Amino acid sequence: MEEKLTPKLKLRKFLATLVQSIRNAYYRFQGYDFHPSVILERNLNLDRLNHRGIHIGKNTLVASHATIMSHDHVKRVDGMPLMVDTSIGEKCLIGIGAFIMPGVKIGDEVIVGAGAVVTKDVPSNCIVAGNPAKIIKSGIIMNERAEWENWPGLNIKDGEG
Ligand SMILES: CC(C)(COP(=O)(O)OP(=O)(O)OC[C@H]1O[C@@H](n2cnc3c(N)ncnc32)[C@H](O)[C@@H]1OP(=O)(O)O)[C@@H](O)C(=O)NCCC(=O)NCCS
Repeated sequence: MEEKLTPKLKLRKFLATLVQSIRNAYYRFQGYDFHPSVILERNLNLDRLNHRGIHIGKNTLVASHATIMSHDHVKRVDGMPLMVDTSIGEKCLIGIGAFIMPGVKIGDEVIVGAGAVVTKDVPSNCIVAGNPAKIIKSGIIMNERAEWENWPGLNIKDGEG
């Protein structure tokens, strides 16, 4: 569906897209393995010891205050913290304040609910939420803007609510 935006919203969208592409390039410069289309919101807490261990696929959106880890200080290997790969697939939405633990692999078209703590791998096409995160819905379809394509909708009929 075509978006109907006021000139003010068009300008805002243009500036947001510009800022997000600069932010994405800056993170990739630091070594994070992010597809150039990944949208990264503000105030992210991304692992600063093992940049190369974080992989994020095409058309995924990471919302503000999410944390993604790729090392573990308490688990030592030859005196060094454990370094692992943490990956998020394509067309995913990582909700506000979600926490992705080191070594977790998240499939494609997944929604991680706001504030979820993801401790285990997540299959494609599902929603996980809570602490520890559990699957609350399966069979979801996400689009290239990381939107829930087959969302059932509000189902509000006239005269209700
Ligand atoms: C995860 C999410 C998509 C779930 O949507 P939904 O499938 O419509 O969920 P529902 O409202 O039907 O809730 C289903 C159950 O999951 C629970 N739930 C929903 N979101 C939850 C969350 N973030 N954390 C914990 N539990 C959650 C509900 O309480 C409900 O529990 P119940 O069955 O015991 O009553 C949504 O709540 C969410 O967190 N979206 C992300 C928002 C966000 O961060 N956006 C980024 C802005 S760019």
